[in-house]
Amino acid sequence: MKLNKQDIVELEITDIAFGGDGVGRMDDCVVFVPFTITGETVKAEIIRRKKKFYFAKPVEIIKPSPERVEPFCKHFMKCGGCQYQHLDYTCQLRALEKQLRDIMTRLGGFDDSLKILPMIQSKETTGYRNRIDLHPRGEDEYGFCIKGSRPREIFPLDKCHLFELQDDFSKFPMRSPEKLLVIRTHSGKPYCYFKDDHNVVCSGPYDLKTRKPIEDKSIYFDVNDKKFYSPYSGFFQVNKFILPDLIKVITDFAEPKESDVLADIYCGVGVFGLMMADKVKQVYGVESLEQSIVYAKRNAKEMKIDNAEFSAETAEIYLRKFVDQSTKIDVCIVDPPRNGLTNKVVSSIKKIKPPKLVYVSCGPATFARDARKFVDAGYILEKIQPLDLFPHTKHFELVALFTNKNLTQQAQKTQEL
Ligand SMILES: C[S@@+](CC[C@H](N)C(=O)[O-])C[C@H]1O[C@@H](n2cnc3c(N)ncnc32)[C@H](O)[C@@H]1O
Repeated sequence: MKLNKQDIVELEITDIAFGGDGVGRMDDCVVFVPFTITGETVKAEIIRRKKKFYFAKPVEIIKPSPERVEPFCKHFMKCGGCQYQHLDYTCQLRALEKQLRDIMTRLGGFDDSLKILPMIQSKETTGYRNRIDLHPRGEDEYGFCIKGSRPREIFPLDKCHLFELQDDFSKFPMRSPEKLLVIRTHSGKPYCYFKDDHNVVCSGPYDLKTRKPIEDKSIYFDVNDKKFYSPYSGFFQVNKFILPDLIKVITDFAEPKESDVLADIYCGVGVFGLMMADKVKQVYGVESLEQSIVYAKRNAKEMKIDNAEFSAETAEIYLRKFVDQSTKIDVCIVDPPRNGLTNKVVSSIKKIKPPKLVYVSCGPATFARDARKFVDAGYILEKIQPLDLFPHTKHFELVALFTNKNLTQQAQKTQEL
C-alpha cells in the first residue's frame, strides 16, 4: 500500500526505535511516529516518505499506554532536545536498554547471551546539564532548533528544564553577530562565550551575571574528591550527578593492578587515567586537543601524580608508535567521540593486544560496529553497562569490557617469569 504525504493512518505501536520514534506498520512498511509508546494505538499523519519506510507525526493517541506521563516542558515535541518526556522515567530506561540490545544484535551480530547490565539511572533527571548552546533568533532573541526543521528554524526558549540554571535566556542581552551563545555552569561560576557553527570559539569567556570578561580562563570540576582543571570551552561530561558512577564502572571493569600499564585514549583533561593513577604503575594519556593536554598535565601536577604521561596527538598516530615500539599495555581505555574508532585505531589496538579493553561510548551504533571487530579478532565482550547520562533524551552512555583470556594468561606468565 502506497501512502502519501498528509495521509492519516491508524497504527499500533510495537516498539520504540533508537532515536525515540515509536514504530508502527502498514502492511510491510514501517512508519516511524515520534512521541508514541509501545502498546499504544495512534492516528498519525504521513509527513515524509523514504523507500522502505515513512515518517509521520502523531495527531491523536487513541489508546494511550499506562506508561504515558505529562511532559514537564511546554516546548516538548517542538524542541529537538528531548525525545522522552512523555514516557515515565523508569520506562525510558527500559526502552533504552532494549534499543541497546537490538543495536548489538542488528549491527554487531551478537545474540541474546550478550550480558547487558540494567541501565544505571541519573540521580537527577532535570537540572542536570552543565551546558546549553543557544542559537541567535532575529535581532535580539535566543532559542533552540525546532525539531526536524530544514532549513533550521529557531524558536525562543525561555528556559530548558534539563539545564542547571532556570533563568529566561531568550532575551539574554549579550550578542555576537550570527554566533551561538554557550552557557556553562562548571565550578559553580556560570559563564558564557560565543562560538560559530563549526565549534570555533569567537569571544569570551564572560561572567554570566556581570557580563565582564573573565581573566582566569581555566575552570574546574570536582569529581569525587579530586579537582580537575579544564579549558573553559573544552569537553567535559555534561551530567555531574552520574559522573562518579561512570568512573566507578570504568574502574571496576579495568580492575587496575600495581603492575599495570594503563592507556587512556581520547583522554580529554585526563579524568579516567588520573583517577586510577595511584592504583597502577604507569598511565599514558592521549588527546588531539592540545589545550586539554596542557590541563591534563596541570591536573597531574596539582594532584602530585608523577606516573602519568600525556601527549597531544591523534590516537591514530600515538597508537601506531606503541605498535612500532612494542609498548606493553595491560589496560586500554578508549572514549572516542560519537563516530567511534577509526580503522587505524582498531588495527593498532589489535596489534598491541591489551588483555583488557574498556570501551566508553556515547554512540551505540558505532560501538556495535567496533565491538564486532574486536570480537572477530579474539576478544570476548564480557559485559556492557549502560548509564543514563542524558535523561529524557535519546542519548545514553555505555561502558564495555573486552578481555582476551589467552592474552591475559600470557601477560600473567610474562609477569611471573
Ligand atoms: C568523548 S570525549 C572523551 C574525553 C574524556 N575521556 C572525558 O571523559 O573527559 C572524546 C575526546 O576525544 C578527542 N578526540 C577526538 N578525535 C580524536 C583523535 N583522533 N585522537 C585523539 N583524541 C581525539 C576529543 O577532543 C575529546 O576530548
